[in-house]
Amino acid sequence: MTAPKKLFIKTYGCQMNVYDSERMAEALGGEGYVETKTADDADMILLNTCHIREKAAEKVYSELGRLKQLKVAKPDLKIGVAGCVAQAEGKEIMRRQPAVDLVVGPQSYHRLPEMEQKARGGAQVIDTDFPEEDKFEKLKRRPKAKRGPTAFLTVQEGCDKFCAFCVVPYTRGAEVSRPADRILTEARDLVERGVREITLLGQNVNAYHGAGANGDLTLAQLIWELDKVDGLERIRFTTSHPNDMMDDLIEAHGTCKKLMPYLHLPVQAGSDKILKRMNRSHTADSYLRLLERIRAARPDILISGDFIVGFPEETEEDFQATLDLVEEVKYGTAYSFKYSTRPGTPAAERPQVDPAAADDRLQRLQALLTRQQREIQDSMVGREVSVLFERPGRFEGQMLGKSEYLHAVHVGNCGRAAGDLARVRIVASRTNSLAGELID
Ligand code: SAH
Ligand code: SF4
Ligand code: F3S
Repeated sequence: MTAPKKLFIKTYGCQMNVYDSERMAEALGGEGYVETKTADDADMILLNTCHIREKAAEKVYSELGRLKQLKVAKPDLKIGVAGCVAQAEGKEIMRRQPAVDLVVGPQSYHRLPEMEQKARGGAQVIDTDFPEEDKFEKLKRRPKAKRGPTAFLTVQEGCDKFCAFCVVPYTRGAEVSRPADRILTEARDLVERGVREITLLGQNVNAYHGAGANGDLTLAQLIWELDKVDGLERIRFTTSHPNDMMDDLIEAHGTCKKLMPYLHLPVQAGSDKILKRMNRSHTADSYLRLLERIRAARPDILISGDFIVGFPEETEEDFQATLDLVEEVKYGTAYSFKYSTRPGTPAAERPQVDPAAADDRLQRLQALLTRQQREIQDSMVGREVSVLFERPGRFEGQMLGKSEYLHAVHVGNCGRAAGDLARVRIVASRTNSLAGELID
């Protein structure tokens, strides 16, 4: 018997890449690969990359520069680049770094086993097609392998929104939803393998409209189908666009017990002038009114957001409108970024904001968001929450898990196992987590 080959995957970018990496590892498992945690002993290294900001893309080239050294000691080592940089830059990657053997775009992962064989045979292989077939259906699963209590499940891919700053519609292609029965089969399989919480993923997940037995299902209808899966305790979804927040989804937040009270709803900016130039097709006011309706359905829901500062032509007054909006919303978590020019996107051609002004704005926005996040986390002290335990903590007997609001919670002398759900009273708020005690 030949020894298994070792595969090292490094994942950058969003949760969809995390899901894809898992699926690629499973598919290459069928080719005799087992995963390893270090690049040093790998026979194949795959970088699953992100193109969203310039820094994210450049990181890939510096990593490749380091990895090519490994080929000196191990000439049989194969290096592959997957993900959004692969899609956006294609063979340019091999030009800049000839040590790369394989480049595969996000819609071609089901062809990876075949590509791996060609690369083993000494060829340099590239596939950045957008084929018709459903790659997830064709990617083999490793049956019944036990896994942790939380999992991602991609239900929708691509984006048709074309925000003026964003590469996703180009790197992931047009918006496509997976059929509901495949998602349900995959969810049941995950539950059999120990999963208790599933996060449904999509670049525009709330625009989901996958085929069901009697016509297309909305995301809310899919959630209600998942609600019936015994053993599945929690459902989350990300990322949503404000314009696709349909009535039935808002309602589900009030009525579906398994749907967690947490919503990531990026707004990007608070100035209507900037929102229009971003091609976001919502206003600050329509976003605020939408949140009012969501909070009426589920008053304790924790809101999370994304922001871009220093978008072309953003003035100090525009930026002030972002701060005002944040003051009004009160975010439980948020991600904020300095605008990064992306080649091929409409905003790349426009007059850019002075980088020092953008830095200053980012700092001021982050200070406000951090304060809000702190206040909301501190306000959990004294409250009862439900915690899904994920793994042991640093101290003997301690377990770590997440509350329904996605706060990290640790409980000492816990006596519970990963996968258990428990009622917990929060007793302290620490830097990045809460401390709690079991109630029963
Ligand atoms: N589909 C999601 C998010 C996709 S990308 C949505 O519609 O919100 C994740 C976040 O990266 C975006 O919400 C945005 O805040 C940020 N982002 C995207 N392009 C960017 C760019 N060119 N510069 C800086 N941040 C960017
Ligand atoms: Fe990018 Fe906009 Fe699509 Fe989100 S909605 S993925 S920000 S184009
Ligand atoms: Fe990055 Fe592609 Fe996700 S650009 S954020 S890895 S969809």
